[in-house]
Formats: sequence, structure tokens, C-alpha cells
Amino acid sequence: MNVKFHALVAGATGVVGLRLAETLAQDADWDVTGLSRRAPAKGAFKTIAVDLTDAADCRQKLGALTGTTHIFYAARYDHKTTAPEPIDLNTNMLRNLVDAVEPGAANLQHIHMVQGSKYYGSTLGPYKTPALESDPRVPDNSNFYYAQEDFLIARQPGKRWSWSASRPHAICDFSTGFARALGMLIAVYASICRELGEPLAFPGTEGNYHALYQCTEAGLLARAIRWMSIEPRCANQQFNITNGDYIRWKNLWPVFADYFGMKLGEVNTQRLGLTMTTPEMAAAWERIVKKYSLKTNTYDKLVVWPYGDFVFGPTFDIMSSTIKARQFGFHESMDTERMFIELFDYYRREKVIP
Ligand SMILES: NC(=O)c1ccc[n+]([C@@H]2O[C@H](COP(=O)([O-])OP(=O)(O)OC[C@H]3O[C@@H](n4cnc5c(N)ncnc54)[C@H](OP(=O)(O)O)[C@@H]3O)[C@@H](O)[C@H]2O)c1
Repeated sequence: MNVKFHALVAGATGVVGLRLAETLAQDADWDVTGLSRRAPAKGAFKTIAVDLTDAADCRQKLGALTGTTHIFYAARYDHKTTAPEPIDLNTNMLRNLVDAVEPGAANLQHIHMVQGSKYYGSTLGPYKTPALESDPRVPDNSNFYYAQEDFLIARQPGKRWSWSASRPHAICDFSTGFARALGMLIAVYASICRELGEPLAFPGTEGNYHALYQCTEAGLLARAIRWMSIEPRCANQQFNITNGDYIRWKNLWPVFADYFGMKLGEVNTQRLGLTMTTPEMAAAWERIVKKYSLKTNTYDKLVVWPYGDFVFGPTFDIMSSTIKARQFGFHESMDTERMFIELFDYYRREKVIP
């Protein structure tokens, strides 16, 4: 074994952290320890159960990890789609982790934090697009990225380690274990509409149907994060990381209708958090599961429907430029239309959708 780097991945049961931990663990250069309160379902890496909100728990369980070379921060305090994310709690989680590990880890080289397009105020209303990493911060932006970033920027001078930040958007992962997943949401929505004999109507707003949007495949993000954590030029830099293309749902919806063998419907604006959570919809899904011998998925655990309202609601473009990452040397990209089709194929192979 030629292990060069010892990584701690915080948030190793989350959609970003699990894919990152698995990606690093498959690389012979990396030894990986995942951190979260729960244990990941399948373990390709070591894990430590720790509550990052608890400074004493962090010191006790992580203080002895003196060989750590890299800290990857992909945790976030339990997220309710509609609630503001608590800034102090999220920042304290990162601080507790760094406070516990940094003093003893003489060879700490890098700390990476995962941010997102919310950095640019994408949830507040129309904003300057494509967003650039150098864009000024947005007043009244209520997410925790600025405070976490400020913490690392203040902590780093005079240290041997550098930091970096990735800014992905709408993570899509080839897995079935996450309910806040855009591909799964679209696939289950389409399957139920088809079962009910309805066309595939776009459930969001008219403006959203026509606006530009972007996604980030979790494996691509993981490889980008690995790259920026060891590329010296990326020290103390932020990078937008998306698939690299821009989509409009009005172009993809006909493709999805075709894939699921359905007629394309009109835009039918609704609150998925209400319309898809009724007993009738649960019963329709129950019928589908029986009819196609799918793996039994409890309907209310399968999809977080309000996440669909969050994605399909905004009536403006959501776009980040990925030029900086390319100029610094990360050249991976992905065709997002193709990604969704491959995701649906994957769900079918896994017998999660018909
Ligand atoms: N998902 C997206 O579409 C998306 C898009 C853009 C940016 N991002 C950003 O990516 C980052 C990661 O998001 P995600 O979607 O991967 O999050 P997630 O799926 O909600 O996962 C959160 C992770 O944090 C861990 N965690 C929460 N509270 C903890 C605690 N007290 N102690 C230890 N671990 C704790 C969870 O593990 P346990 O519950 O087991 O403790 C889980 O592993 C966030 O900064 C997010 O804003 C996400």
C-alpha cells in the first residue's frame, strides 16, 4: 500500500460526503475515515461516529488522528428544505472539527469545504449570471457558507495547510439511498403520472420551465474536490463545480416523456409537497410497486417532494461559470440530459422504478 494522504470526510453519510469518501477510498493514494453520527450503510472506508455539534465529543474521538493530512467538510446540520439553515450551528460544527484535529495533525495539508450556488444568492431571487467565484458577496444571504469561509480564511495565515471550496449545484448521484434526489423525484413523479394515465406535465412554474439551470453529478464533484485538495494552484481558492452545461426543463421534459413512454403535458404548476403527498398518490405508488415487483420503498421515505418545489419554482436562470476550474486544470464535464437518462436506467436496474 502506497498511501500518501489520510483524509477525514465529515458528512460521510450525506450525498456529497459519501460519494467523496467512496471515491477517495478507491484511490490507492488515500486512506479515508468518514465522520457522521450514523454509520454509512455500506463501508468502503473506516468510520467514526461523532457529533460535530459537540466540541468535547470531537476532541475525545478525533484528537488522536494525528496522521490526518486532509479534512473534507461536507456535513451540514440537519437540513429541512424549507427552513433557513442555522449559521452558528453549521459554523461551530466545522470549528469543532478543526479545533479537535488541527493541533495534533502536524502534517495537515489541506481543508476543503463544500459550498454551493446559494453562495451567490440563488435562492433569493434573480442574480448576476453566470456567477463567478470573484463576484462580491450578496447582502442578506442567509446561508452558512460565508461564516464557514470566514472561519477558515481567518485561521489559515501562518499555517502549513491551505483551504479550498467547491460550489456545486443540484447534486445528482447514482445511488438510491437519498430522498432529496432530483433524478429520483422526476422518475417517481413520471411513473405515478403514467400509472394514473396522465401526460407528463411539468409541475413547476412557467418561468422555471424556460429558465437555465445546472446540475452537478456527485462523482464528478468528488473527483474535482480530490483534484483541488492536492493541486498547489488551488490553495485558498473557490471553484464552481457543475456538469459544465446548462439545461432548460422545456428541452428535457420532452426527452423524459419519451423515455417513460408518455405524452408530454402542458405546464401544470403545483406544490409537489402537497399534491404528491396525498394518500391517493401513496396508493398509486403501492400499485406500481406490486405491478412491477419493485423493491418495496416506503412512499413517504422515497422522495422529499418539497425539494421539487424548491427546484422547479424559481423563474430565473441559475448559472455558475466553470471557466475558473477549467483554467486551473479540471477538465471533466458531463452531458446533463445523458446523466438523467443514465440515472433512470440505473433506477430501473435497481428495481426502484418501473
Ligand atoms: N445536495 C445538494 O443538492 C447540494 C447542492 C449544492 C451544495 N450542497 C452542499 O453540499 C454540502 C453537503 O450537503 P449534502 O446534501 O451532502 O448534505 P446531506 O446529504 O444532508 O448530509 C449531511 C451530512 O452531515 C452529517 N451531519 C449532520 N449533522 C451532523 C452532526 N451533528 N455531527 C456529525 N455529522 C453530522 C450527516 O450525517 P449524520 O446525520 O449521520 O450525522 C450527513 O452525513 C452542504 O454544504 C450543502 O449545502 C449540496
